[in-house]
Amino acid sequence: MSLISFNPFSHADDVGKEAARLILEGLEQKPSSTIVFPTGKTPIPMYAALRQSEPSRWTHARLFHLDEYYPAPKPGAPIPYETFETYLRRELWDHVPANQYWMEPYFNHPAKYDELVCAESGPDWVILGIGGNGHIAFNEPGSPPDSDTRIIPLSPQTQQDNFGGVHLPGYPTHAMTLGLASILKAKRILLMATGDKKRSIVERALLSSEPPHIDLPASWLKTHPHVTILTDFPL
Ligand code: GLP
Repeated sequence: MSLISFNPFSHADDVGKEAARLILEGLEQKPSSTIVFPTGKTPIPMYAALRQSEPSRWTHARLFHLDEYYPAPKPGAPIPYETFETYLRRELWDHVPANQYWMEPYFNHPAKYDELVCAESGPDWVILGIGGNGHIAFNEPGSPPDSDTRIIPLSPQTQQDNFGGVHLPGYPTHAMTLGLASILKAKRILLMATGDKKRSIVERALLSSEPPHIDLPASWLKTHPHVTILTDFPL
């Protein structure tokens, strides 16, 4: 049975603080928690709040990333976008002494990444944003709920949203994404959505009576027993 709880706040900063509070509370209960972290603009306040935490809290934690652009840029070559490894290092991973699992070494064997994430029958936490087309991680429309971690083409809308255009020279057209199967194995899922432009997709994917379907990947969250949605708009 789905047990989605909606928790609206007035400001994006409060969404981030609440996400950080829940994650730190989880780490206190289980210091060896496996946590999968997202990128994007939405989680920035969460990372700011997490950086205020005591680094020793993170010693036993296992941190994974949710997705990464593919292929990896050539070492030292200038690129017009930021890799998710660079983002995560800056926002949190370089600030905490946790066990850290980068995605890039698994580009050629994504099943191994699934195995590591799900080593204890599933991650403790998966933290998510949501794409304008309802994608979670980079599970684009067309992703079934049993999809594995894999390399996937970015939809034209995602390329437009993330890079300001489709097939722009120098920008990736593919990414590796944690599959919906591993996301749905999480003990807890936290989804943050901020800014009014995210409101309609959250309402459609998670609040409407539409049954979950592959064209709206976030709608599969309705099949998970413990999802918390944090927004800065009323629902
Ligand atoms: C990217 C990421 C998603 C993220 C989404 C929304 O496509 N793969 O994990 O949720 O963007 O990003 P933003 O928070 O910047 O709106």
